[in-house]
Amino acid sequence: MADSGDVAPPYDYRTVRQAYDTVAEDYAARLPDTRAEAALDLAMVDAFVAAVGGETVGEGSGARVLDAGCGAGRMSRHLADRGLLVEGIDLSPGMVAMARRDHPDLTFDEGSLVDLPHPDDHFAGVLLWYSIIHTPPADHARIFAEAGRVLRPGGHLLVGFQSGEGTRDVAPAYARHGHDVELVRHLCTADEVAGRLAAVGLAEVCRLVRQAEGSERDAQAMVLARKGPAHISA
Ligand SMILES: C[S@@+](CC[C@H](N)C(=O)[O-])C[C@H]1O[C@@H](n2cnc3c(N)ncnc32)[C@H](O)[C@@H]1O
Repeated sequence: MADSGDVAPPYDYRTVRQAYDTVAEDYAARLPDTRAEAALDLAMVDAFVAAVGGETVGEGSGARVLDAGCGAGRMSRHLADRGLLVEGIDLSPGMVAMARRDHPDLTFDEGSLVDLPHPDDHFAGVLLWYSIIHTPPADHARIFAEAGRVLRPGGHLLVGFQSGEGTRDVAPAYARHGHDVELVRHLCTADEVAGRLAAVGLAEVCRLVRQAEGSERDAQAMVLARKGPAHISA
């Protein structure tokens, strides 16, 4: 992880890490699985699973996938249950501890999306499921370049995020559950994300943008992209 100052992310990730360390146990209890996802969201995850070769042979192809910003591991579980060989990585030691506690059969490590410890061309798929949302959009390119680096040519990336413009303060929502944290999330559009992915050689395959449902404040967007031969490293 880039804590030594060698490769510092260009935003204050320490605040994000501290916030998720604080809420980790509650987050794992309130969001243990994919029940918060809309059916459309899970359809995009299914498309990702199919694209990387899950559920193709018996219990699955065993294609290697990275859950990047895995939190407490609920999406890692979802992917593993569909026959993928999943490992998760997250900035927050507290979230990683919850992931290891709740999914002891899977592998989870601490690390930053802008400085992944994996070799080039290593994964058939990378999932960025609401893990770019605390990074200012101007810094997304670095995360996408790093995800592209660890993807093998032809590999797929799925990005999920709240769609729109501007910034939301997440602290009041956590305060209602008794947590005192500093945390904001940044909105961006599918066009912006697809453009930044294309700039590092990750070509859009398809996207889904849906309106907010239930207690959601914002529309939700998912972009599926594929690594071509011309990936550009950071
Ligand atoms: C909204 S949670 C989503 C967690 C998980 N993907 C899920 O769907 O439950 C955002 C997660 O991204 C992680 N995260 C944010 N920025 C990160 C970064 N630069 N590197 C690694 N993880 C990061 C946070 O620690 C947090 O666990």
